Amino acid sequence: MNFELTEEHIAVRDAAREFTQAELLPGVIDRDTEARFPKEQIQKMGELGFMGMMVDPKYNGGGMDTLSYVLAMEEISKIDASASVSMSVNNSLVCWGLEKYGTEEQKEKYLKPLATGEVLGAFCLSEPEAGSDATSQRTEAKLEGDHYILNGTKNWITNGSSASVYLVIAQTDASKGHKGISAFIVEKGWKGFIIGKKEDKLGIRGSDTHSLMFNDVKVPVENRIGEEGFGFTFAMETLNGGRIGIAAQALGIAAGAYELALAYSKERKAFGKPISQHQAIQFKLADMATQIEAARMLVYKAACLKDQGEDYAHASAMAKLYASEVAMNVTVEAVQVHGGYGYVKEYHVERLMRDAKITQIYEGTSEIQKIVISRNLLK
Ligand code: CAA
Repeated sequence: MNFELTEEHIAVRDAAREFTQAELLPGVIDRDTEARFPKEQIQKMGELGFMGMMVDPKYNGGGMDTLSYVLAMEEISKIDASASVSMSVNNSLVCWGLEKYGTEEQKEKYLKPLATGEVLGAFCLSEPEAGSDATSQRTEAKLEGDHYILNGTKNWITNGSSASVYLVIAQTDASKGHKGISAFIVEKGWKGFIIGKKEDKLGIRGSDTHSLMFNDVKVPVENRIGEEGFGFTFAMETLNGGRIGIAAQALGIAAGAYELALAYSKERKAFGKPISQHQAIQFKLADMATQIEAARMLVYKAACLKDQGEDYAHASAMAKLYASEVAMNVTVEAVQVHGGYGYVKEYHVERLMRDAKITQIYEGTSEIQKIVISRNLLK
């Protein structure tokens, strides 16, 4: 067991850190206040190779490992979790799903521009009545000759209006339960595809989360991913990797809040000395740092298992479960260390606290992660 990062990993982490300070930190408070998507910043992230990090270079990707991706996600999430959720969905749900299961034609047409960040992708599984219970898909795709007719509504879709390529999960045969669910690639602008309302959220306010409506949208058969009936497995496998990305996001949010609290505690004086010299604050800092380190080990382990070709579903669920709990605990404590200043926008920690909550909800709630973990333990 070796806990050292390689020079390449350190270079990726430093490049992400530099980018966040130069490009994401300025304006992050305004984007959160105005619920404004970081469009130019995401464009630059694409130019720097952050949007298709693990994709094979032959499809314009960075050809990097999952650990590099996790390190970049962690750094970007310290500053702007709205930018990092876009990055996570594009990398680990959309690009990974297409590279692993797409046809050569699909990869040429869709994966290549997604991997450079030239276009963004969205992953459309959740529905008004199918969140945690993902098998209960109401969106249906009916085969008619050389195309499917897609009808239904999707909810909570990250990159909802900014994406150009949408991976849509729909039922193709209701009588077969989860084996009657299929996956499709749908393009923005196709007739009958309507981008619905934008959600006004507690956190990750810069990310654009929308509902989507499909009214008799014609989807060519060649845009189906895998065989008919493969859609549920496709979604589950894609989410196994997605959860590593969200775990890294949670880790970054926690680490970002901790770093701010540590620095503030050395500057702020009370009762004649910096508050870092008071044991009440020292205990908080020690707890925060310990929890973050434990979360980091789980996240890096899940990434390494994936890179080594091992089964990582269990490890990614554990990493997401624990890192998202840590993100919540640590951000609340970071606000507490800041006192009244922590409650105002200027000091960043209140935003990180709001952003942390979603990591316990999306890509499977904490309860779903416990289902995945316990089923694995009991099988
Ligand atoms: N990995 C691989 N396969 C899996 C799997 C996993 N983690 N979980 C289930 N499966 C497979 C099972 O092996 C089974 O396959 P077979 O029939 O071939 O044996 C099949 O899927 C059905 O499994 P279950 O009977 O266990 O299904 P279930 O109805 O009990 O549900 C669940 C399982 C784990 C609860 C699943 O529904 C789930 O993960 N729900 C959460 C969905 C989710 O994460 N949504 C997030 C939306 S995407 C998002 O948030 C993106 C964004 O924009 C940020």
